[in-house]
Amino acid sequence: MPAFTFTVNGSSVTVEAPADLPMLWVLRDLLGITGPKYGCGVDVCKACTSHLDGEAFNPCVTPVADCAGRTVTTIEGLADGDQLHPVQEAWLDVDVPQCGFCQPGQIMATVALLRHNPNPTDADIDAIANICRCGTYVRIRQAIKQAAQSMG
Ligand code: FES
Ligand code: FES
Repeated sequence: MPAFTFTVNGSSVTVEAPADLPMLWVLRDLLGITGPKYGCGVDVCKACTSHLDGEAFNPCVTPVADCAGRTVTTIEGLADGDQLHPVQEAWLDVDVPQCGFCQPGQIMATVALLRHNPNPTDADIDAIANICRCGTYVRIRQAIKQAAQSMG
């Protein structure tokens, strides 16, 4: 089986896997990194949203071969030691989650959005396609605005 080396949450890792194995299964099953959730497997629900070289990506439809030599960040890699990311702090302040399942993806999508757009409008926030079947969208919007303010 081919081997692939990449960086995950600051550590270099090498895995042996079929080249077309979706990165979501590499993270969850081979590396035990379970923050990225499996919802649909077809790039629709966005529950698996993580970052590839700092940009939001969906590992359920990204083969491991495409991640070789690159940098993957999951929700587990967002905090700086004990210091939570400002987006995580805002999520806690606003008490966003209900069941929680979609929330790692929501947070990772938000961090990617704020990186490019530190002052998102409601329309920019609406463009986040992550699904929350608990309907926490109002609190997500509030937390995004709070995070934007605290980071600005
Ligand atoms: S699991 Fe639904 S987009 Fe990845
Ligand atoms: S908090 Fe339950 S799916 Fe979003």
